[in-house]
Amino acid sequence: MSKILDGAAIAAAIKQEVAQEVTKLASRGIRPGLAAVLVGNVAASQIYVRSKVQSCADLGIYSDLITPPATVTTEEMLALVEQLNARDEIDGILIQLPLPAQVDTKALLDAIDPAKDVDGFHPVNAGRLQAGRPALAPCTPAGIIEILKRSGIPISGQHAVVVGRSDIVGKPAAMLLLHQNATVTICHSKTRNLAEITRQADILVAAIGRPGFITPEMVKPGATLIDVGINRITDRAEFERFFAGNAKREASFAKRGSTLVGDVHPQAFEVAGAYTPVPGGVGPLTIAMLMANTVRAAKMRRGL
Ligand SMILES: NC(=O)c1ccc[n+]([C@@H]2O[C@H](COP(=O)([O-])OP(=O)(O)OC[C@H]3O[C@@H](n4cnc5c(N)ncnc54)[C@H](OP(=O)(O)O)[C@@H]3O)[C@@H](O)[C@H]2O)c1
Repeated sequence: MSKILDGAAIAAAIKQEVAQEVTKLASRGIRPGLAAVLVGNVAASQIYVRSKVQSCADLGIYSDLITPPATVTTEEMLALVEQLNARDEIDGILIQLPLPAQVDTKALLDAIDPAKDVDGFHPVNAGRLQAGRPALAPCTPAGIIEILKRSGIPISGQHAVVVGRSDIVGKPAAMLLLHQNATVTICHSKTRNLAEITRQADILVAAIGRPGFITPEMVKPGATLIDVGINRITDRAEFERFFAGNAKREASFAKRGSTLVGDVHPQAFEVAGAYTPVPGGVGPLTIAMLMANTVRAAKMRRGL
């Protein structure tokens, strides 16, 4: 039987530690603060930002939700970032992506003060991370390391294969695994003989954005599978391909008309030694690490 790595429980433990840290800071008159910028009316973004703001409230972190309209310009967004950079009660600035097409996302992310870049997307933080200097690391990859460490899965000397090379997940995940002394291979859409490489992985990180892409024959028996993918499926035939015979999923699909599947085919989990489920694996860690980064930024800005 493969072991399920319970991301929700790990995220809850991290949030509890963050809340304790917030209490300690409060005794010194410091309250960490997060500005969450939600542009327009993208339903998924609204859900994500709502849970981020709720988590701040749960942990005693100050939050300011700012909601520019979908018609906002790059110049208006740059002016907003400048204001947030200057506000002392704001330690972290989160701009929920994706932004409308007319907004220059890179220019905006580059304008955030690196000291307040709690998403860890600023090139200065990416560079610091690569150079092994103190940095605010991107939340999802940082969460992956927490899952592995807190589940007692060895990283040092292991072959970690990361499928996906985005700036948000794949690249920083590879860098963090390297800093933990894994031997790291990064794969992407131009990789030849992908299955041959993934089959060598002791730790396989799938950050691709394609439902059930990693199939059982791509997995070394006993490997640890970290499934970052979040794909919503609504098609009955696709549902059957992944969850035929799964009564629990069947019930929720019938009720909602959709379900979530990761980048790993559920049958591949049966080959694994341990794996993160979707939902309830990597996902919950992203918010927990955002909270941890906000508190870290509050301390770092004050030289604590
Ligand atoms: N759990 C969370 O909180 C969380 C957070 C962020 C993202 N996600 C999910 O994680 C997934 C990846 O996100 P992302 O932002 O990293 O996506 P992304 O920017 O679209 O990157 C996808 C990566 O997968 C690679 N890829 C695509 N097709 C491939 C193929 N056939 N073979 C090998 N590699 C292939 C791409 O290669 P190229 O570079 O060559 O194009 C790219 O590097 C998505 O499902 C997203 O929803 C989850």
